[in-house]
Amino acid sequence: MKLIITGGAGFIGSGFIRHILQTRSDWQVINFDALTYAGNLENLSDVEDNPRYQFVRGSIDKYEQARDVVARGADAIINFAAESHVDRSIMDAASFVQTNVVGTQILLEAARKARGLRFIQVSTDEVYGTLGPTGSFTETSPLAPNSPYAASKACADLLARSYHSTYGMDIVITRCCNNYGPRQFPEKLIPLMTLNALQNRKLPIYGDGLYTRDWVHVLDHSRAIEAILEDGQPGSVYNIGADHEETNLDLVRKILSLLNKPDSLIESVRDRPGHDRRYAVDATKLRDELGWAPIVPFDQGLRETIHWYQSNRSWVDRVSSGEYRGYYHRMYGEREKTLDEI
Ligand code: NAD
Ligand code: DAU
Repeated sequence: MKLIITGGAGFIGSGFIRHILQTRSDWQVINFDALTYAGNLENLSDVEDNPRYQFVRGSIDKYEQARDVVARGADAIINFAAESHVDRSIMDAASFVQTNVVGTQILLEAARKARGLRFIQVSTDEVYGTLGPTGSFTETSPLAPNSPYAASKACADLLARSYHSTYGMDIVITRCCNNYGPRQFPEKLIPLMTLNALQNRKLPIYGDGLYTRDWVHVLDHSRAIEAILEDGQPGSVYNIGADHEETNLDLVRKILSLLNKPDSLIESVRDRPGHDRRYAVDATKLRDELGWAPIVPFDQGLRETIHWYQSNRSWVDRVSSGEYRGYYHRMYGEREKTLDEI
């Protein structure tokens, strides 16, 4: 199997690439990534010499670049590339529409012209909007996104769906809950709170902190996508969820306790506008049809994740200082191009 992974230098994409190269001895991977602020090739430093791995810098919203990477030949494209942070989408929605909507359409178009590829659109549970205290979303729940990020991902889902219906393309959509694990960019809840606590800085909890998320380890998300890639029904949607819900406050208290830090570091700050109260997905279809189940227990995964941030200070320091952005230049010896130039 030869895969094109878009957004492979990000948190989940890099975890997926590592998982595939470790477990599939004859699969090949092309990592196609624009290297935005969220792309960090150091996430893949342990595989960059693997002859089955190749990096191509490019952007999914540039047709020629998408066409050229697809022309290298592949059995499937897995589209992880996205602007992924809700708070940033509230500050500036335009780049979310450009990458998540326009980029997905351009990538779909490149795949359509190439013919015969399977296309996995990596979506999110946020497309369903928010839940009350009980119940969960199934794959047929209506889409009701509340942030510009979620709306852009919902648009991408619908485009993917339409390319299946209209052109008969082999497309599968996945909708996963919140991921955690090593190498997550420290703008997201778990790494942000871990790194702040390690430096005895305040931990900013939005509103009352009783917002609830279902957390899945990035390895289990990767295993789910692997199963869907191999056996998912064309034209289908699969929810991915671990049935492990935590309020933000409980989760942050667990992080503090694992680090032997006091709860007094927690600080309530102004709420996120349009903040979804609760997410939960019903992943019965994935479990029943494809036999997937998560294998990383949350408390173990959280402990290991926190340990990873504690023992990888150089990764953290290079991300904090911005030095990680020069990695491509140092590795590939080319002048560092700006995003506008690529
Ligand atoms: P991330 O922000 O860590 O990484 C995104 C990657 O995409 C980066 O490497 C970035 O350089 C790349 N990228 C951005 N724009 C690009 C473009 N135009 N062309 C090519 N590459 C581009 O994101 P993540 O948390 O790893 O999420 C990956 C995917 O999974 C996203 O599609 C996201 O919507 C989805 N998802 C994330 C979560 C989560 O909890 N993080 C949960 C469900 C679904
Ligand atoms: O549900 C899947 C989604 O999970 C993905 O599609 C997104 O790409 C991913 O970023 C994530 O979105 P969230 O908004 O749930 O994740 P985030 O880490 O930003 O926030 C998690 C919760 O913690 C949310 O209720 C907001 C809250 N929060 C977050 C930050 C960064 C705080 O209270 N304080 C903070 O500083």
